[in-house]
Amino acid sequence: MSLGADRSYKMKLRDVENAFKYRRIPYPKRSVELIALLAISCTFFLFMHTNKLNSRLKEMEVKLQPSEFSALGLTGNHVSGHDAGKHDDINTLHGTYQYLKSTGQILQLNAQDLNNTPKADIDVVFFNRVPKTGSMQLIELMRQLGKVHDYEVEKDPQVGGVLPLLELPEQSDMIENIVNLEDGTVFASHVNFLNFTKNEQPRPIYINMVRDPVERVISWYYYIRAPWIFVPGRRRTNREMPNPKWVNTEYDQCVLSGEKVCTYIEGSLLEHVGDHRRQTLFFCGHDEFKCTPFNSRLALQLAKLNVEREYAVVGTWEHTNETLAVLEAYVPRYFADATKMYYSGLHADKQNDNPMKPHISQDILDMVRRNFTREIEFYQFCRQRLHKQYLALKLNDLKRADKSLARLEAANEMAIKN
Ligand SMILES: *[C@@H]1O[C@H](CO)[C@@H](O)[C@H](O)[C@H]1NC(C)=O
Ligand SMILES: *[C@@H]1O[C@H](CO)[C@@H](O)[C@H](O)[C@H]1NC(C)=O
Ligand SMILES: *[C@@H]1O[C@H](CO)[C@@H](O)[C@H](O)[C@H]1NC(C)=O
Repeated sequence: MSLGADRSYKMKLRDVENAFKYRRIPYPKRSVELIALLAISCTFFLFMHTNKLNSRLKEMEVKLQPSEFSALGLTGNHVSGHDAGKHDDINTLHGTYQYLKSTGQILQLNAQDLNNTPKADIDVVFFNRVPKTGSMQLIELMRQLGKVHDYEVEKDPQVGGVLPLLELPEQSDMIENIVNLEDGTVFASHVNFLNFTKNEQPRPIYINMVRDPVERVISWYYYIRAPWIFVPGRRRTNREMPNPKWVNTEYDQCVLSGEKVCTYIEGSLLEHVGDHRRQTLFFCGHDEFKCTPFNSRLALQLAKLNVEREYAVVGTWEHTNETLAVLEAYVPRYFADATKMYYSGLHADKQNDNPMKPHISQDILDMVRRNFTREIEFYQFCRQRLHKQYLALKLNDLKRADKSLARLEAANEMAIKN
């Protein structure tokens, strides 16, 4: 937009310059004055116009606050990891914006192209919630929104955690159950991605949440060691209470002493159901060989593909406002006014929050992060997509605003002519 304005500004300037080049031709004095006046008013108008657009873009940039995570790849086109740790890296909203602007992609961003909701064949939201990403918080929000927008939230009871890899008949059963839910239902379950098309069933609206993968495993580590979690849990399932050493071992110690639960070996398979090191698994599916090897390239690519093709929104509480805005705009039937609802009280009431989580040293975090490269890449991919979806919305607003600027320009030209 500013490019176009710039060009027409330059053209007009050239016209004016040309007019002055030939000033030896004796123009009547009046015309010279008129041209000068025209030039000044044109320049002034265009200056205002470009300025207005620039300040809009600036405003947008200011609002897009940088945060501080590392960078790895945008939509699989690898922007090298060397930028990792830079302040304005590509995974922040601001960084994504800068990147898209520098490559000229920003003007092609289109919310419609990034919207998978129209692909859904049924009015059911399938939230295959990843543990420890704040999914309870989103369920609470949806419960409240459901009262306003007339829908139900069904949470899979699944006592004791996540569903294992499902065999094909089990996948079909679950898919059939979901398809048979009433219109206007959200179904939330800790289960890996399910392919409805493969079962020749109509597709739901897919949504999910993600979190920094290392934060996530640490959160899980302390969650299961919190007495208010394991005591009722073990009572319910009649299991012995754990040994105090297990309860009291800090994550740092666990990593340093090379305990199995805190060692992350590339290509290793699931140790047990609820081995929580693979966030990608929830987006990859139920194929043991393709999806379970830890930190593998194939699982990463399949997970990315499914996010890009299938999911309406994959949000994160690390970008709360963007997630809410994107949910509102891309899944309005279920999320209209989500921001307002969230900030009218829910935001203060964190579900499943664990105050016991201690500070973990940067060395340990770095050590663990080195083994989570692809898991981190997946998380960054989801964030970049969220940023893109958000920017596409903001850009629509800008373009709408620009139309009114174009009308103003036309009116101004009329005024000059008359
Ligand atoms: C789902 O299955 C269909 C049919 O086998 C296949 O064409 C499609 O690629 C699969 N989709 C995903 C996202 O895996
Ligand atoms: C990281 O991976 C390497 C190579 O497989 C392994 O030797 C090391 O123990 C792993 N570190 C952690 C913290 O899992
Ligand atoms: C998110 O939105 C809320 C409510 O509009 C606002 O108070 C808050 O400052 C925003 N947070 C960020 C990080 O922009």
